[in-house]
Amino acid sequence: MSQPVSEASLALNGGQRTRTTEWPTYDKGYVDLCGDDESAALRAIKSRRLFRYDNRPHTETEVGQLERELAGFFDSRYALACSSGTTAMALALFAAGVRPGDSVACPAFTFAATPSAIMLTGAKPVVVEVDENLHMDPVDLQAKLTPDVKAVVAVHMRGFACDVERLVAVADGHGVPLFEDAVPALGVSLGGRKLGTFGRAGAFSTQSDKSINTGEGGFLITSDRDLFERAVVLSGAYEQQLHRHTDPVLPTISDLTLPIFSFRLDEIRGAMARNQLAGLDKRVATFQGNFRYVASRLAGLAPIRLRQPVAEDAFLGESLLFRLPGATPEQVGWFVRALNTEGIGARGLGDASRPNNRCFWNWRFAFPHETEQDTIRRYQRSATLLKETVDVPLSITLSEADCDDVVEAVTKVCNAYRPPNSPIGG
Ligand SMILES: Cc1ncc(COP(=O)(O)O)c(C=O)c1O
Repeated sequence: MSQPVSEASLALNGGQRTRTTEWPTYDKGYVDLCGDDESAALRAIKSRRLFRYDNRPHTETEVGQLERELAGFFDSRYALACSSGTTAMALALFAAGVRPGDSVACPAFTFAATPSAIMLTGAKPVVVEVDENLHMDPVDLQAKLTPDVKAVVAVHMRGFACDVERLVAVADGHGVPLFEDAVPALGVSLGGRKLGTFGRAGAFSTQSDKSINTGEGGFLITSDRDLFERAVVLSGAYEQQLHRHTDPVLPTISDLTLPIFSFRLDEIRGAMARNQLAGLDKRVATFQGNFRYVASRLAGLAPIRLRQPVAEDAFLGESLLFRLPGATPEQVGWFVRALNTEGIGARGLGDASRPNNRCFWNWRFAFPHETEQDTIRRYQRSATLLKETVDVPLSITLSEADCDDVVEAVTKVCNAYRPPNSPIGG
């Protein structure tokens, strides 16, 4: 029997590929860096002052100025630059008093760095289920808030804001602080307010595939003075360097009461981050524009369910996530292979042959005493949703032609896709 036309036209079945050039992703060098970034890095190098703490006034160092500019951008009282998003989150938790033996709640869908930051403090991550749009579920959070849970980490995963206001209300009701892992959503707002400013503190990264790219780096935003001062010392401000951050007033704590972890940011990255912060709104608009273009053309395509934001424009758009409701792992695998053969970078989140660090059952370090299957069974709803999900990275460098390619390829594969319970892929 001959194949239906739509199926025969798939590159997977020998048809013409949608594109023959590689799908642009940051790890292949598709990043938004310009001459001004080079000049900023050179400015710091030529100054020969690469450490953030020296005899210059704080306001004349690159990192000191970056912190002032970040506080302004976020309309927050304080900002602390540090070495990564993971260390930013660990500093916030530690500064808030999370200690070994405590538990900290985080969603089932987040990068392994979130539970890792929790574990840096000696605490244990407690997984909270996600809803059908992969946002942390406030109802399940409520159920998970036992007395040993001392904090909540909400995550704006893959650039989509979670329902952070509801989550804050649940955490408040339990009397514990909520922190935002806003790493993937740097520069995004919810209801006119910047993500990262809803909780006690917000953690961000400036690692290469984020909306600010300094290779490595991160920062913390907070308006809580005590938490800020403690985080500054913990990040590696010793011998009265804390004063530089609180000037003209004196610190309220002694820096001798806390360990120092050397999670500081250096001047070269500070200089680059300053330059990119100045253009951040434009970078966010580029991401969002590409995402809207693609998502609006794929909306309503029958076999897929596009991940929905919690509010209009509450996303960055760094990746296109959609589910194939009811699909088996084989069907999702077929869909991803078909897209890859069309020339589009895509992954199935639950692909067992390429364990994805964003799926909770692959955080084996956090559940050393149970099998992967037992971990999956404990959070079955999230596992089912994640295993149905396909992730297509949308780099900031996408052209309109690239966006057209992803629309064409997804549409083509959707047309050939057989719904669950039917044989697939010829
Ligand atoms: C959700 C999330 N949290 C934390 C991090 C860690 O950031 P960093 O690599 O700067 O430590 C990442 C990194 O991609 C992330 O996606």
